[in-house]
Amino acid sequence: MTDCRICAGPLTEFLDLGAQPNSDAFPRPGETDGEFFFRLAVGRCGSCTMVQLMEEVPRERMFRRDYPYHSSGSSVMREHFENTARQLLATEATGTDPFVVEIGCNDGVMLATVSDAGVRHLGVDPSQGVADQARAKGVRVRTAFFEEATALDIAATEGRADVVYAANTLCHIPYLDSIFRGLDALLKPDGAFVFEDPYLGDIVERTSFDQIYDEHFYFFTARSVQTMARRYGLELVDVVRLPVHGGEVRYTLARPGARVPTAAVAALLADEDSKALAAPATLERFAAEVRRTRDDLTALLTQLRAEGHRVVAYGATAKSATVANYCGIGPELVSVVYDTTPAKQGRLTPGSHIPIQPSEAFSEPYPDYALLLAWNHAEEIMSKEREFRAMGGKWILYTPKVRVL
Ligand code: SAH
Ligand code: TYD
Ligand code: ZN
Repeated sequence: MTDCRICAGPLTEFLDLGAQPNSDAFPRPGETDGEFFFRLAVGRCGSCTMVQLMEEVPRERMFRRDYPYHSSGSSVMREHFENTARQLLATEATGTDPFVVEIGCNDGVMLATVSDAGVRHLGVDPSQGVADQARAKGVRVRTAFFEEATALDIAATEGRADVVYAANTLCHIPYLDSIFRGLDALLKPDGAFVFEDPYLGDIVERTSFDQIYDEHFYFFTARSVQTMARRYGLELVDVVRLPVHGGEVRYTLARPGARVPTAAVAALLADEDSKALAAPATLERFAAEVRRTRDDLTALLTQLRAEGHRVVAYGATAKSATVANYCGIGPELVSVVYDTTPAKQGRLTPGSHIPIQPSEAFSEPYPDYALLLAWNHAEEIMSKEREFRAMGGKWILYTPKVRVL
């Protein structure tokens, strides 16, 4: 039996998504031999309710020099992080000579605004390629994994931080005990740790099972975060639901007594209780919905191909590794995936080996159907590609249910 990574309580598995590759490792054609696979399965801790992966993938396999995810690839996300930076500057970086630290700063999408405001800051990210892009925007970055030793060193050399921020990164880190020991050393007494990640409530409500992949180790709720924070000597003092990436929550943690928890915390906890969000029966129901989505999606794609339609996909997301490999979708069902990321173009999707081409080629000529793998950017993509539907093309979505638009 595997134990909870937070409290060592017993884990009960509720969903097995089978053998999966690294979601962000796109092999070159002809170089698919020896691809790494692991068993992607999710469980719930019987003691602290934290939902987490049953198996951990070594971090060096995922976050490397050529880590291909670039946060600035979406205009909606660029705007989201500019607003986030302005908000952190207004509410947290208020004293004299404030210091802002970001864990997982990627290409500097958030910290660029902090840097432009002339505020002292430091990003920490182990993936050298994206870190270099952040530096090109004037952002100070340490190419390193944030953990206890990194935090101690930053505190010793640069002083303590008013705020430490992490977006779509904390849930990537199994070793949270080390992170929280580091935060204790790095945060000023009245400092805050603010982080945002995909919310289990949205994943269950939308059956967005593709949020589950190697990099996403934890699936947080207000309840599990509150329990975890207390274990590490912090208190959950605010929660904000965010529409980005298919539904996230921004959590604020502070030292006990430093801040009065907002009404939003009690409200979200009550909402989770009323829905029995992380109860075993809810998670079993979610798993049944996931199996149904798989069956519906493969049936639809098989039928469309049998009818002779040309079916492609849009957005070589990390998320879509789970969909393709769990549902058995390869080049025989979806001939090509279009994507704007240069580092993914000319490569193959992990495990499923569908060729990836630049999104400019989407219209040459338009296909009959396009499976929208980057469904979290649906508005942005459908508006950019409105000509596709005007020409009679149809989008296929699989969350919350399989449907054709
Ligand atoms: N914050 C950005 C990037 C999210 S991708 C956004 O929301 O768009 C996750 C990032 O976390 C990657 O750039 C990865 O290299 C980084 N990362 C993974 N483990 C980390 C760790 N222990 N410390 C710091 N960064 C880490
Ligand atoms: P995203 O859904 O943000 O994250 P993840 O990889 O973590 O699942 O990935 C978006 C992908 O979609 C990325 O590879 C870029 C691509 N994309 C486009 O091709 N066109 C677009 O207009 C947008 C917004 C994204
Ligand atoms: Zn636990």
